[in-house]
Amino acid sequence: MNTLLVTVLAYLITLCSGKTSDRTSAVNEKTLQETAREISGYSEVALDIINLAVSGKAQNRSYNRLADFTDTIGNRLSGSPNLELAIKYMYNALTQDGLENVHLEPVKVPHWVRGEEYAMMLEPRNHSMAILGLGSSIGTPSAGITAEVIVVHSFEELHQRAQEAKGKIVVYNQPFVGYGESVQYRAFGATEAAKVGAVASLIRSITPFSVNSPHTGWQDYSPGVPKIPTACITVEDAEMMARMAHRGTKIVIHLQMGAKTYPDADSYNIVAEIVGSKFPEQIVLISGHLDSWDVGQGAMDDGGGAFISWEALSLIKDLGLRPKRTLRMVLWTGEEQGGVGAEQYYQLHKVNISNFDLVMESDIGTFAQLGLQFTGIGKAQAIMKQVMMLLQPINATGLSEHAEGTDIDFWMQGGVPGASLHDDASKYFWFHHTEADTMSVQDPVQMNLCSAVWAVVSYVVADLEEMLPR
Ligand SMILES: *[C@@H]1O[C@H](CO)[C@@H](O)[C@H](O)[C@H]1NC(C)=O
Ligand SMILES: *[C@@H]1O[C@H](CO)[C@@H](O)[C@H](O)[C@H]1NC(C)=O
Ligand SMILES: *[C@@H]1O[C@H](CO)[C@@H](O)[C@H](O)[C@H]1NC(C)=O
Ligand SMILES: *[C@@H]1O[C@H](CO)[C@@H](O)[C@H](O)[C@H]1NC(C)=O
Ligand SMILES: [Zn+2]
Repeated sequence: MNTLLVTVLAYLITLCSGKTSDRTSAVNEKTLQETAREISGYSEVALDIINLAVSGKAQNRSYNRLADFTDTIGNRLSGSPNLELAIKYMYNALTQDGLENVHLEPVKVPHWVRGEEYAMMLEPRNHSMAILGLGSSIGTPSAGITAEVIVVHSFEELHQRAQEAKGKIVVYNQPFVGYGESVQYRAFGATEAAKVGAVASLIRSITPFSVNSPHTGWQDYSPGVPKIPTACITVEDAEMMARMAHRGTKIVIHLQMGAKTYPDADSYNIVAEIVGSKFPEQIVLISGHLDSWDVGQGAMDDGGGAFISWEALSLIKDLGLRPKRTLRMVLWTGEEQGGVGAEQYYQLHKVNISNFDLVMESDIGTFAQLGLQFTGIGKAQAIMKQVMMLLQPINATGLSEHAEGTDIDFWMQGGVPGASLHDDASKYFWFHHTEADTMSVQDPVQMNLCSAVWAVVSYVVADLEEMLPR
């Protein structure tokens, strides 16, 4: 039979049966097969990257760099002199590393200072409590606040017992059911307590595990609602006060907080690149945030994410690789205050959104590598699955849905495919925003492996013939 006739007949049959979509998907499948072949061509270069990071000259480099950085600078709160020093340190380090277009982009960031703070239980017995004031909290009057406590387990219970809360310190002893849900108490606990006339609020730290360590973090006041001082307390103290209250014991606390908010400060996002050879205007963005809370060393949150991002660029540079598209690293400022640096970056650069191929962020630890979390349409997912096959040598082929990252969210909302590092984060919230977020949480071997994942994915996606579909 005449092949043209067959084609025409097939087309007519397709039209009559309304099955044009099958035809389209057949075309897509072929493209995907071609892309899969293109991607498998990178298996040797992927192995070079992995070997350099895991067993070669770059072994433990990201860990050693991070240790030097956090031991020298310490933690890096938005608006603090430490964060300024950290930005200078990184500018010099990235320049010395020989990366391209190293520069700073100005950002205005919140400037909150904790000041002296303590909490003392006075009744039923004297007990000094470990607390950490929450970011943006006001301080107490200089004489402090001494008041009786009401313990609640939920906002519902607070609303039911609203009459009892007036003039008291509200203690929230909400269970930990997952970060996203439980963090609502840290974010809105003060506002809800103020609405029913409380004078301060103390919030059980947002963590599944505790060794009597308080966890700080950002909180939000609401317009029109009085601002009251607010801090987090330990799981242990929250549970103890709940037991006391259940027995009908009266609890009195003296709270002293010197927190202050100053006018917004000058800060910077830090940018470094490997400029693309063929499509330099197209961008694969790789990132972590450089700022941290003012406790511990900010080694895990997010020193690890920032330093595997730097390491990814170093690995690619050291191998003499230059992808077709530009690999752009951004180290964000003001993330802990709600992605302040990232939002200003997005507003400034979104005019070029069609040139952003993939945005990546690592901000849930750099523990044992599993793969990536990815946000993108089905066809982009299928391509990313192929890219992940290149990570079989280090068993990091996983691709799960929904990339996470405050700083890349703006781009993902705009339709740009996004990826976050997927690691075994089961202990992440043990250390999150505490004095225990130090280099002792970080592991050089895990950082080598996470750096390899980060470098292979960013390099290969930046070097493919076509941008990821969106
Ligand atoms: C890298 O760190 C691991 C784990 O601490 C250690 O066993 C190894 O010797 C280190 N490698 C180098 C080159 O220092
Ligand atoms: C408890 O602390 C208060 C204030 O610091 C002090 O005056 C009081 O003597 C203490 N009570 C006991 C039993 O130690
Ligand atoms: C947009 O991209 C073009 C081409 O790379 C570049 O010259 C320009 O500076 C970019 N604009 C912004 C605001 O990033
Ligand atoms: C590979 O990773 C999976 C989970 O991502 C794990 O279940 C499996 O044990 C790992 N295999 C090896 C050989 O480490
Ligand atoms: Zn973080």
